Amino acid sequence: MSLIYDGCMEAVVRAPAMFIFRFSPTKSFHSLPSLSFLPQLSSRSIISSSKVLSHRSISHRSHSRAMAVGSQTNMIVDTSAKGAESLFRMAVRSMEKVYLDRNPTAKAVLDLVLSVDGNQICYDHFAFRTFGAVIKKYVKNLGNANRYAALASTLGCLTWETPSYSDYQQLARESEYAAWTLVNGFTVNHVTISVHRLKSQIGNIKSLNHFINEQGFKLNSEGGILKVSPDGLLLQSSTVADSTIFNFSDGVSEPVPCSYIEFAERLVLPQYTKLTNEEIKEFHRRDGFEVGNADKIFESTSMDQITRKAA
Ligand code: NI
Repeated sequence: MSLIYDGCMEAVVRAPAMFIFRFSPTKSFHSLPSLSFLPQLSSRSIISSSKVLSHRSISHRSHSRAMAVGSQTNMIVDTSAKGAESLFRMAVRSMEKVYLDRNPTAKAVLDLVLSVDGNQICYDHFAFRTFGAVIKKYVKNLGNANRYAALASTLGCLTWETPSYSDYQQLARESEYAAWTLVNGFTVNHVTISVHRLKSQIGNIKSLNHFINEQGFKLNSEGGILKVSPDGLLLQSSTVADSTIFNFSDGVSEPVPCSYIEFAERLVLPQYTKLTNEEIKEFHRRDGFEVGNADKIFESTSMDQITRKAA
């Protein structure tokens, strides 16, 4: 048996202007809000990919390109063509539905923010995890199955055989990130609310963290609740992942971590601070990601955080 893996990948769909999570007032408060898009905006999406060299070391890098390629999984999203764009939107909507159905905390937090802030939320990014290369036993017979990563994300299914509990445990000892991917596949790892685009008093991350905490949701405390980039301009926090019962192939059913929701506030770059609020656009703000922040945010699915008593 070979469970060798050579690191995980993260693919991030950075789409601050494209995705708006809109609450429909005709539906009940707890109904699923529908995802809609700003039609006048460019179809460019940004996907950044990065390789996790070890389970403690991850980097996010942001690349802006119309043809966005998600990591090395051949998950290609060509948003330059109209047809592909609508397909992309449908796919994102399906991924989002799987994500919200499986993660009651993420859904509850989104509902809560919508209830306070009005009827729409902008996403900062969607993130996925994939294997860098191999968990040989599971991936060896798949051939080009990784090509179907995007489809698997929309359906919420694995593209490899259901793993055994013993394999899961063995992998988890080496890397919790890889073990997460073994049971969650290419489903959305987290969705991120763009905090500075909220309109109400929770439109800054400290107030939002306080509010979320007050409502009884556990925030990831790794390195402190608030993760701040060295330049002080990218502020992030996240909930702790929900757990779900996974039925392993050897008949064992055990809880495994699923996904979480993240919050990101991007402050205005120093050269633009003289602009008025109305003049400030997304490109006037801090872009990209930060390794130090990402490392800590990724602990949201760790057993340390999941089993931690609420702070
Ligand atoms: Ni993220």
